Amino acid sequence: MPSPTVSIVVPTFNESQNLLRLVDQLDKAMIGIPWEVVFVDDDSPDGTWKVAKQLAQDDARVRCIRRVGRRGLAGACIEGALSSAAAYVAVMDADLQHDETVLPAMVAMLQNDQAEIVIGSRFVGDGSTEGGYSAGRAFASRVATHLANCFIGRQVCDPMSGFFALKREVFESAAPRLVPSGFKILLDILATTRNQVRVAEVAYRFRSRQEGRSKFDARAILDFLGLLLHRVTGGTVPVRFVFFMIVGTTGIAVHLIALRLGLLAGCGFDTAQSMATVAAMTSNFHVNNLLTYSDMKLRGTAALAGLLKFYVVCGVGALANIGVASWLFDSNESWWIAGIAGVVVGATFNYTMSSIIVWRQQQN
Ligand code: GDD
Ligand code: MN
Repeated sequence: MPSPTVSIVVPTFNESQNLLRLVDQLDKAMIGIPWEVVFVDDDSPDGTWKVAKQLAQDDARVRCIRRVGRRGLAGACIEGALSSAAAYVAVMDADLQHDETVLPAMVAMLQNDQAEIVIGSRFVGDGSTEGGYSAGRAFASRVATHLANCFIGRQVCDPMSGFFALKREVFESAAPRLVPSGFKILLDILATTRNQVRVAEVAYRFRSRQEGRSKFDARAILDFLGLLLHRVTGGTVPVRFVFFMIVGTTGIAVHLIALRLGLLAGCGFDTAQSMATVAAMTSNFHVNNLLTYSDMKLRGTAALAGLLKFYVVCGVGALANIGVASWLFDSNESWWIAGIAGVVVGATFNYTMSSIIVWRQQQN
């Protein structure tokens, strides 16, 4: 049997109630186009991957990748697309909010070479959002769309869409440069390919979700801002590093509060300063664990071991900071250049070593 024409990649997290209907609707919509669907499930507690694998046993067009120990919509889409070989890759959500009946038209546009990326858009022609969004999110979505367009260097009506199709070669060439943490995979593909590819948009009506819950949260917004920063720096500053620095800054506030409390409690300055340092490191560890490394969060004894390692890393980082700053100061640099250089070296050291030793995985 030849490979299908389209691989439809569907990231899932707690979507067990939606899969059967989705496959059924795809079957009805994709008439005359050989297709497969690749569910990429991040080990959902509701057992979505079990449902997907059950469906796969009865239908060879259904595949499922169960990822363990990882989270992230964008990364799931990247892995699903990389696992397939069809000439065209489509990405859509599992929750039936994306209109599968426009998929054939999207694929036809790729086949006729009208475009290399076709976006299912809520904001062109007859496109709309069927009561799916609160007024707040609709507004945020508009602001984010404008912001996104500035960064991708072209006008796209719905660059934040999670529903799109593209030619395999476009995806494969962009893949190594994509950021796997994050919620906005299309935006990243557009930012990566810039003006080298032709983009078209097809209107669709964004339906409201019937089963399960949206995973869009504050973290998704932070990921979006992190992605923009990563791109604006030409891909040199990792998204995680940006988070790590923001968290580090909050640590200063924690430090000062703890120092003040220590002094108020009658501790000597050295004792209060030491306690404040430990408080700041502890708080930084926990916030980083929740935010910066939320996709590989440490729990239980692993978290305790991680905290101890984090103390050691930060201790050595502080020595590196002081070493560099003193060396520069002794070499007649001004006090503030020496100070900033020390902080940058210390923070970079903490980040790099934390990524290797505390939250062990490749950096991105
Ligand atoms: N594997 C995996 N891992 N899948 C995830 C994760 C994750 O960490 N988080 C969310 N998903 C899956 C959901 O199960 C769903 O199938 C899809 O990704 C979209 O998540 P929703 O939580 O339904 O997002 P939304 O409806 O608020 O927003 C979606 O639609 C918008 C309009 O197209 C997203 O695709 C947005 O990016 C998009 O702008
Ligand atoms: Mn949704």
